[in-house]
Amino acid sequence: MTATRVDVDHPENQPGHQPGHHTGATATGPGRGGPSREIGWRRLGGPVSVVALVAAALGAVGQALGTVVAGRLAEDPSGALIELLALCVVGAAVLQSVGRVAWAGVVDRAEGRLRADLLEAALHQPLAVLSEQAVGEVLDRVDDDTHEVGALARRQAWDALGTVFAIVPLWVVGGLTWWPAWVLFPVGGAVTLAVVRPLLGELARRKVLEEIAWTDHAAAMEEGVAGRDDLRTSLGQAHLLRRCSELSAQVHRLFASVLVIEASIGRRAGVLLHGLLAGVGAVGVALVAHGDLGVAELVTLFLVTTTFVGQVDQVARHLPDLQAGVGALVRLRQLLATEPEPQGGRSLPDGSLSLDLRNLHFSYETGSFALAGVDLQVAAGQTCALVGRTGSGKSTLASLVSRAVEPEPGSVLLGGLDVLEVDLQELRRAVGVVTQRTEILAGTLADNVTLFTDLAPGRVEAAMTELGLTDWVEGLPDGLDTLLGPGGTTLSAGEEQLVAFARLLVRDVRVVVLDEATARMDPLTEARVVRAADRLLTGRTGLLITHRLTTTARAEQVAVLERGRVVEQGPRALLAAGDGQFRQLLDAADDHVVTTGTHDDTQLGGVRRTGPAPEPPRTGS
Ligand SMILES: Nc1ncnc2c1ncn2[C@@H]1O[C@H](COP(=O)(O)OP(=O)(O)OP(=O)(O)O)[C@@H](O)[C@H]1O
Ligand SMILES: [Mg+2]
Repeated sequence: MTATRVDVDHPENQPGHQPGHHTGATATGPGRGGPSREIGWRRLGGPVSVVALVAAALGAVGQALGTVVAGRLAEDPSGALIELLALCVVGAAVLQSVGRVAWAGVVDRAEGRLRADLLEAALHQPLAVLSEQAVGEVLDRVDDDTHEVGALARRQAWDALGTVFAIVPLWVVGGLTWWPAWVLFPVGGAVTLAVVRPLLGELARRKVLEEIAWTDHAAAMEEGVAGRDDLRTSLGQAHLLRRCSELSAQVHRLFASVLVIEASIGRRAGVLLHGLLAGVGAVGVALVAHGDLGVAELVTLFLVTTTFVGQVDQVARHLPDLQAGVGALVRLRQLLATEPEPQGGRSLPDGSLSLDLRNLHFSYETGSFALAGVDLQVAAGQTCALVGRTGSGKSTLASLVSRAVEPEPGSVLLGGLDVLEVDLQELRRAVGVVTQRTEILAGTLADNVTLFTDLAPGRVEAAMTELGLTDWVEGLPDGLDTLLGPGGTTLSAGEEQLVAFARLLVRDVRVVVLDEATARMDPLTEARVVRAADRLLTGRTGLLITHRLTTTARAEQVAVLERGRVVEQGPRALLAAGDGQFRQLLDAADDHVVTTGTHDDTQLGGVRRTGPAPEPPRTGS
C-alpha cells in the first residue's frame, strides 16, 4: 500500500527548500554517506582481488604445463621431470588455493557491506511502504538473497573464471599436441552449452516461483510468531499450522520441479562431454597404434581432455546456481532501487508550534475511505480532542501530522510551515506520537525510555517525576533498571503506554499526538495514564484521540469526525453545553455505549493488497 499523494513532490522541489540543508543526525547515521545503491563488480574491486586473480591465472597455467610434463614423463621417466611435475601440480594447487581464499575474503567483506546497505535501504523506505512489507520478506532479502549473491560471487563466479583461465592454456596445449583439438575443444564446449541453454529459461522461471514460495512461507511464519498470543488464546494455531504446512508443501513441490530440470541439464551435459572424452581417447589410441602420435602426446592429450571435460561439465552443472544467484541479484537490485524517505528540508520555528489542517483531503490507495475537506486549527500550546466512531479517520488524521503517511502539499502546517517542507528527522523530533501499540524493546526500563540514546543523567527520573510515575517505577522489581522485554518483566498495555509517554517527555517533543491512549486499561491504570497524559500535554500542542469522552475534559477544543469529515468543532465547553454531535456522544457515553454502538461496516475500507500479486522478478537466462 502507498497512500495516494496528489502532487507531493520531493522536498527538493518544494518552494523554500534550502538546498544542502541537512540537520545533524540524518537517517543514514553519522559517518556514512547513506547506503550504496548499486550492486556490481565494483563492490569486489581492490588489490586483494587482483592478487586472487593473478594467483588463479598462474595456477591454471601451471596445471596445463603439468599435463605436458606428465606426457614427457610417460615416455621418458627421469628424476628432473618428476620434480618439475611436482612443482607444476603442487604449485598450481597452492596458487589456486591462495587465490580462492583471498577471493573468499574479498567476497565476505563485500557481502557484509551489502547486507548493511540493504538493511538501510529497507528501513529507509517511507513508513507507509514499510508497514505493508512483511518482516519475513525484508529478512529474506537482507539475509537469504544476500547469502545467495555472496555464494554466486564466492563460488560460481570464481569457478567460471577459473574455468576460463584453465581452458585457454589447456586448449593451447591440446592444439599443439594434436591439431584437431584446436577445433574439437571449442566445438565440444559450445555444443554442450547450446544443448543446456534452452532449459535455463524454464529453470529460472521455476526458481523464481520457488523463491516466492519461500518468501510466503517466511511471511506466514513471521505472522504466526508475532501473533502467537492471540493465536493461542483464540485457538487459531490449527489454522497457522495448516497454512504453514500448505506453504511448505508448495515449496517442496516447486523445489522438486526445479530438480527435474537440473537433473536433465546434468544428463545432457554429461552424455555429450563424456562422449567427447571417449572419442578423443579412442582416436588417440588408434593414432598411437598407427605410429601417428607418440605416447607422450597421447598421455598429454588424454589429461588435457579429461581436465577440459571436467571444467565444462562443472560450468554446465553450476549454471542453475548461477541463475539462482542472478535471480537474487535482481531482487536485491529492486530493493536497493526503492525510493528512500526524503532527506533534508526546513527547520521548524522555535517554541510552541501551532497545528493547522487546511482543506485536507486524503485517501488510501486501497479501500474507499477518504478524509475530505478537513479544516482544523490548534493554537500553540493548546489541546484538541478528536472524537468520532470507529473508522471515522482519527488515526489516519494523526498519521498525516507526523508524516507516517504523506499529506497533500499545503494541507498540514506546523508552526505555519508545510510539514512536507520540514526536514523529516526534525519533524519526528518535534512531533511525538503514542499509538495504542507501544513496542517494548529488550532492555531496562530506562533504556526503553531513552531508546538507548545518551541523555543527561537524571533526565529519566525527572521525566518519571514530571509524569507522576515515581510510585509506579518504585513498584517495579528494579525500578528504572527493571529488565523489560523477552526474559524480563512484562508490562501491561497501560504501563507500556506510560513508557511511551516518558519517551516523548525525555525527547521534549513540542507536539503530542495521543491516539487512543487510554483504551484497554483498568480504571486505576487509566487514571494514572490520564494524569500522565495531562502533564505531558501541559505547555505542548496536543491532539488527543479518544473514545473515552471523560478524557477529553482537559482539552480546550473538540472536533467530531464522521466518515472522514469534521462535522463539529469548537471550544469543548461550548459544544458540551450545546445539542450537537458532541453532546450526543456525551449522552451516549453516559449510557456506556460509545465504543459498542452500531457499527457500519461500509465505513471500514481497510482492504489491503487487493490487486493482483506483484509480478515475479525476471531473471536473465
Ligand atoms: N493502510 C490503510 N490502507 C487502506 N485503508 C486504511 C488503512 N488504514 C486505515 N484504513 C481505513 O481508513 C479508515 C479510517 O481508519 P482510521 O484508523 O483512521 O479510523 P479511526 O477513526 O482511527 O478508528 P478507531 O476509532 O477504530 O481507531 C478505515 O475504514 C480503515 O479501514
Ligand atoms: Mg484509530
